[in-house]
Amino acid sequence: MKKACVIGWPIEHSRSPLIHGYWLRLHNIAGSYTKIAVRPEELETFLRRGLQDQGLVGCNVTIPHKEAAFEIASVRDPSAAGVGAANTLWLEDGRLHAANTDTYGFMTHLSASAPGWADRDGPAVVLGAGGAARAIVYGLIQAGVAEVRIVNRTRATAEALVASQSSRADLRVMDWTQRNDACRGAALVINTTSLGMKGQGSPEIDVSAIHIDGVVADIVYVPLETPFLAEARRHGLRTVDGLGMLLHQAVPGFEKWFGVRPQVTAELRDIIVASIEDRRC
Ligand code: ATR
Repeated sequence: MKKACVIGWPIEHSRSPLIHGYWLRLHNIAGSYTKIAVRPEELETFLRRGLQDQGLVGCNVTIPHKEAAFEIASVRDPSAAGVGAANTLWLEDGRLHAANTDTYGFMTHLSASAPGWADRDGPAVVLGAGGAARAIVYGLIQAGVAEVRIVNRTRATAEALVASQSSRADLRVMDWTQRNDACRGAALVINTTSLGMKGQGSPEIDVSAIHIDGVVADIVYVPLETPFLAEARRHGLRTVDGLGMLLHQAVPGFEKWFGVRPQVTAELRDIIVASIEDRRC
């Protein structure tokens, strides 16, 4: 029986066990996927010894451990190296391997929900410069987006993000107060900040500045339709919610640990939507 888990601090709200549990049942795999609370000061010991001691084949890593897990891993695949953070770990030949599947998750969901998103000329705008923004900017560069504008409340964080990318794409930092200027004529605008989560306001973007054939995405998925997405939809823009990224980022890890490449199905999505509606957090 293969065992995997998700670690974080706190971890109670993780929906990863629901996702992997669904696939384990669907594919009749004798395996388990649980959540384990790991404090930051316990992370290194857990990854160096705990995984093996508990008979785990690997784990997902969530806030606040993604950067530290990347540092601790012995082998980092390009998806993690390009972002400087890891969310998927596995033991192979006694060594800890690290990947980052957030980029894959976001880009796969974007292409599935807004086919042809890359066909329109115009810059992409990323609101925020945290860990999720790093994974997304890396994905946009890999997809060949020529210009990415990074707009963050703390300018220095956006500058550090740009400095971490060895890319010939045009990466521009803009001030948070200039965010409407940044969105003018944009082909793609992505909110990676926590603004839009229940009770946390909205990025307050004038969506009429965005190109009418453009796409607006949010990585927040509680609520499923953030105020930003709702306004973009009312304005006639194509919108991409945050839930798909969560579902798709789980695919490579499941395949690595359990040997079957699973599908993101409507039924799986419905299960997670029901849990969001149930808990609202
Ligand atoms: P994640 O890993 O999900 O990206 P994070 O690394 O904590 O999370 O990043 C959160 C992002 O939301 C940051 O870009 C943060 O801006 P700062 O770098 O200035 O902290 C942004 N953010 C959070 N609260 C915000 C607010 N009230 N207004 C604007 N941006 C906010």
